[in-house]
Amino acid sequence: MSENIAGLEAQFNQRIAEGNTIEPNDWMPDKYRKQLMRLISQHAHSEIIGMLPEGNWITRAPSLRRKIGLLAKVQDEAGHGHYLYSSAETLGISREEMFDQLHSGKAKYSSIFNYPTLSWADMGMIGWLVDGAAIINQTTMAKCSYGPYSRALLRICKEENFHKKQGMEIIAMLIASGDKGKAMVQESFNRFWWPTLMMFGPHDSNSPNSPDMMRWKIKLKSNDELRQRFIDMTVEQAHTWGLTVPDPKLKFNEQSRSWETGEIDWNEFNAVINGHGPCNHERMQSRLNAHHMGQWVRDAARAYEEKQRLKNNAAA
Ligand code: 3HC
Repeated sequence: MSENIAGLEAQFNQRIAEGNTIEPNDWMPDKYRKQLMRLISQHAHSEIIGMLPEGNWITRAPSLRRKIGLLAKVQDEAGHGHYLYSSAETLGISREEMFDQLHSGKAKYSSIFNYPTLSWADMGMIGWLVDGAAIINQTTMAKCSYGPYSRALLRICKEENFHKKQGMEIIAMLIASGDKGKAMVQESFNRFWWPTLMMFGPHDSNSPNSPDMMRWKIKLKSNDELRQRFIDMTVEQAHTWGLTVPDPKLKFNEQSRSWETGEIDWNEFNAVINGHGPCNHERMQSRLNAHHMGQWVRDAARAYEEKQRLKNNAAA
């Protein structure tokens, strides 16, 4: 029996080494399955909770065009959540279980969504920084070893690219509108810069899940590598817009040809991911409320499914 498992594990490792994807019906180690369930469900929760800070601005969008754009974006995030929950379900976990984990606080979601959205510039900032960071992380993971997750990410990244461009357009227009608009962008940038850097997770040396995830090619680049890629790209964009990066220690390293930042406040990061950020309570209350209000829709869908099943049985 154990020889059999050793053989299956060797085949599994070989498939990963050769760059093949692992599919739902393939044999996989238990730990690989559990890591994927954790990662994909947390990503799905991030998409669903991520609708809340932007959803807050739909009624306050400054024009009909902006309202339509924001509505479509928030709706896209719901769609991303669905692809990801479906992808996690292929591993043998139900959507109800995943929701229970989110609602009980057992499962995490991205730290960034526990910060408030205080001005219209924040809608631009989320597109530019938050979606920009998500794209860097997810285009890399779209080449990961688990087929259903990698295919979901391909589609998600295409849509996130639209979101990023929409955010950059909002920022460019606010800056072009004059000093007041630019000040609004800078104030938003000051609030979102550090929390966005936290999205990439702890330093590699403090990332307990990374060794397994890298070995199995679930992650193809480390937290710090992706964060650095984001920093190098974004600092240049900020300077092009005439914005000041809110980091007095920021400096260009001529040797590595990359930007060095000051240290992230890891106490703040740990507080946020453990439920004590500025909006954790509010986000979870809104989520629980939405889940409760949606109960009749789930009940109606189940009743319809049952009715169809009985009808099909009678016809057979
Ligand atoms: N927010 C919340 N929790 C975080 C976090 C963050 N920014 N960064 C790390 N953590 C948690 C991890 O989940 C882990 O906790 P757990 O073991 O209880 O699950 C712990 O901190 C230690 O971190 P690790 O580095 O060991 O964890 P990972 O190896 O999983 O790496 C990650 C963290 C880089 C965020 C990785 O999970 C990842 O790449 N996730 C997939 C992408 C994703 O979830 N993105 C969400 C972004 S938002 C989004 O896409 C919405 C869009 O609309 C913008």
